[in-house]
Amino acid sequence: MRKRVIAGNWKMNMTGTEAKKFLKKIVEKINTDKKEIVLCVPSIDIPIVNNIIKNTKIKLGAENFYFENRGAYTGEISAEMLIDQKVSYVIIGHSERRQIFKETSKMINKKIIKAVEENLIPIICCGETLKQREKKETLSHIKKQIEDAYKGVDEKYVKKTIIAYEPIWAIGTGKTATADEAEDVCSYIRKLIKNLYDEKISQEIRILYGGSVNKNNAKEIFSKENIDGGLIGGASIKEDFIDIVKA
Ligand code: 13P
Repeated sequence: MRKRVIAGNWKMNMTGTEAKKFLKKIVEKINTDKKEIVLCVPSIDIPIVNNIIKNTKIKLGAENFYFENRGAYTGEISAEMLIDQKVSYVIIGHSERRQIFKETSKMINKKIIKAVEENLIPIICCGETLKQREKKETLSHIKKQIEDAYKGVDEKYVKKTIIAYEPIWAIGTGKTATADEAEDVCSYIRKLIKNLYDEKISQEIRILYGGSVNKNNAKEIFSKENIDGGLIGGASIKEDFIDIVKA
């Protein structure tokens, strides 16, 4: 049985002050180990959030990091810095990083390799644009993204990695993929992992859906065989997150 993961991606929202106020309202209600609850927060909020959740079952995640150990990389943070602040998960390859900050598949691959080597759990994002979906290029695009992401990733690390399928047209738009559309792509991703590695690993790896998940649609989406939880944006900075965790 794969343990479900409900991860919040706060994106560039929540000052430290706001985070304290928000967490006061939700921490007790999302504190469970029946599912893996992960809060991926802006890097400057990490110590504040850690301080609040450190005696709970909730896990801490970052939204980004850089793959070098240390040095002249102004503005970046390293895996070691995250681990020092009790971070155990990190989002890699989010479409916003790919599109706005021009992260390439090569950089994303390097980040994934660095993360697993440092024992950080990467939440690896993939997903197609609306144009690609309309041109029926969804699966070929996902195949390329997954193959590029896992290039050179040793099989001993793979079952610990998490993949998030996030169709770009569904992010922050209120337009969700139907549960069946999401399931189709997530089951395809599981097949890709089976082809790249083996059946056992493909059955162990967790695959999430992300893109306008809310308290009303979460239950149906999470009920699908190949969807092991969600990566939640907008709804993770509202009390709705409590309902999603319980869905
Ligand atoms: P929304 O839930 O706001 O659509 O964002 C999804 C997302 O990008 C999570 O990483």
